[in-house]
Amino acid sequence: MPSQQSSTPKVSLDEINLSNPEFWLQDRAWRSAAFRTLRNEAPYQFFEEWEFENSPIPRGPGYYALTRHDDIWHVSRHPELFCSGKGSNIGDLTVELNEFFGSMINMDDPKHFRLRSIVSRGFAPKEIKRVEDYVVTKAKELVDRVIEKFPNGECDFVEEIAAPFPLEIICEMMGIPKSDYKQILTWTNTILGVGDPELVTSLDDLLAAGLNMFSYAQALGEDRVKNPADDITSVMMNAEVDGERLTAQEFGSFFILLVVAGNETTRNAISHGMKLLTDNPDQRRIWFDNFDTHTRSAVEEIVRFATPVIHFRRTVIQDTDINGFPVKAGDKVVMWYASGNRDERVYENPDAFDVRRDINPPQVGFGAGGPHFCLGANLARREIAVMFDEIRRRLPNLRITGEPAYLQSNFINGIKRMPCSFK
Ligand code: HEM
Repeated sequence: MPSQQSSTPKVSLDEINLSNPEFWLQDRAWRSAAFRTLRNEAPYQFFEEWEFENSPIPRGPGYYALTRHDDIWHVSRHPELFCSGKGSNIGDLTVELNEFFGSMINMDDPKHFRLRSIVSRGFAPKEIKRVEDYVVTKAKELVDRVIEKFPNGECDFVEEIAAPFPLEIICEMMGIPKSDYKQILTWTNTILGVGDPELVTSLDDLLAAGLNMFSYAQALGEDRVKNPADDITSVMMNAEVDGERLTAQEFGSFFILLVVAGNETTRNAISHGMKLLTDNPDQRRIWFDNFDTHTRSAVEEIVRFATPVIHFRRTVIQDTDINGFPVKAGDKVVMWYASGNRDERVYENPDAFDVRRDINPPQVGFGAGGPHFCLGANLARREIAVMFDEIRRRLPNLRITGEPAYLQSNFINGIKRMPCSFK
């Protein structure tokens, strides 16, 4: 039997306001119950946007919260009706800022298609194959480092294992020198820590982190045009699609997206995965005793259960309906992946962590099959599998020993710190 999560409370509709930052301070079980109420009682609930004090971003017109798997699937796969170009987070930035921070995730065709075609070259099977060997080496190195550095067998799981692993892989892929890894991690933490008082203090910090990372990448891209090396930056900067190449500015923004999207998501999937395997020893035994047999479903289940990216938004282009619910041009709709992944219409016993769960229909943690579907999904799956394989073989007693410090965010389901013991 799959393990049952702790008791699930009942939350009434009038207690739920997804826009209120306090909602995102509640514990996971309560939030999960709130989304269950939305799915079952108000699947197209409208929420006003929150008025943030001293924010230069004007308060937007509000949004419909889509919480059912089927509706998320529909919106994601109809970009001709639901666009990304007006922003993919809830607040409204200018088109320039959206493209600066979000690159192609905030674009529609033909711009999106052009950019994706070029950067996909960096994710072709040949390139990923090359990175794969590095993923295995990196996992081994990190575990070596932890064993040597912590002879008493106790350390912070996020800081020592989950965070450096994807970061160092991306940096290696892009040809970034080791001495700059720490700086890149600080910038990405700042960009994704929006809303968490511990990580970001002001919008100025956010803009400074974005600008610094942009300049860094621009210089890296320019260098690889002149001096191509054996890295993905060189593949992307020198790729030609229909006679077009990436400009250094485009690469700068894409780099922000890639580093942010590739680090924080995978890191959180691994952290949540370790916590889930600690809390569900039966599931850990099932997977670790038959690792290769269950890896595919176990990795998908970790991403479903954790849903590291909680939502993305689209904007309605022309009056239409979502499975019968009418929406008008200009309306914002927010796809709550975290809720779609717990939809009882699609998943049996959705609040249970089950490493053998049937992976059909697909979970929506990497997106729901539309043109923006996660470009790094296969790399992320591989990273998660390799890291747990290394833990299973070399740190078989590793378990989480204290409560995680969670990130306060409506966008990233993050764990900032989490103590573990491996003796
Ligand atoms: C568990 C880890 C990850 C999760 C949960 C995740 C999740 C997502 C989600 C939800 C989207 C948007 C999908 C949509 O709107 O349809 C996305 C897009 C994207 N992801 Fe990931 N991601 C992960 C890892 C990675 C990695 C490792 C990379 C790269 C190294 C990456 C690069 C991207 C890029 C470039 C996009 C934008 C694609 C586009 O707009 O066409 N992601 N990801």
